[in-house]
Amino acid sequence: MHDYRLFWRAVRNSFRTTGAIVPSGRWLSRALARFVAEPSDLPRRILEAGPGTGAATRHIAAVLGPGDHLDLVEVNEEFVRRLRERLQTDPPMAAAAERIRILHCRIEDLPRDDRYDLIVSGLPLNNFSVAEVDTILRGFGELARPDAVLSFFEYIAIRRLKAAVAGRAERERLGGIGRRLEGLLAGREIRRETVWLNVPPAWVHHVQLEGAAQRPPHKP
Ligand SMILES: C[S@@+](CC[C@H](N)C(=O)[O-])C[C@H]1O[C@@H](n2cnc3c(N)ncnc32)[C@H](O)[C@@H]1O
Repeated sequence: MHDYRLFWRAVRNSFRTTGAIVPSGRWLSRALARFVAEPSDLPRRILEAGPGTGAATRHIAAVLGPGDHLDLVEVNEEFVRRLRERLQTDPPMAAAAERIRILHCRIEDLPRDDRYDLIVSGLPLNNFSVAEVDTILRGFGELARPDAVLSFFEYIAIRRLKAAVAGRAERERLGGIGRRLEGLLAGREIRRETVWLNVPPAWVHHVQLEGAAQRPPHKP
């Protein structure tokens, strides 16, 4: 209940960045952690963008391999506090606490120092401007190791439903985001899951990213 209250407060203060009225449910969280749960012989670096109160994070933490590291990037200060608390008290997160880092910043501002094998995103892309979505998707590409997998969700048919009642400018924004996401998925989506048991029901997209073989040049 505590997490639901936190979410409600965030929705009231900043619906645009919160983007959901309740934390992701168990089935959606499990689907988001799908590729983290795949066995790996090598240690992996995993990024979760927009972990919120940690709904998906605890499922990711539960399936981390012994050499894996998880970075959580969250912009909302209250959610960051809650994540810190959960790192001490929530059993799957506490068990992996030494390998989990919480970074209080926007994903757009995350330094490109590390590359990730897996990126899980809870960001509400459908609430952002097309330019913001472009920046975020470009950032994921820069943060990804070659052949990294990006897993993210969107509520089923949400753009179409919103567009049906929206004015022209909003329809154009939603159309622009739809085209960006189609471009991301085209030829790269390796699995799509439909999660009916969530409020609201959601699609989880798993996408193979090209990734960056090398670090970008250092800017003085
Ligand atoms: C839809 S909620 C998802 C929360 C959680 N992953 C879940 O599934 O319950 C979106 C989250 O993304 C965070 N967020 C929004 N914009 C962000 C940004 N630019 N950088 C980092 N986090 C962001 C919000 O604060 C919120 O916690």
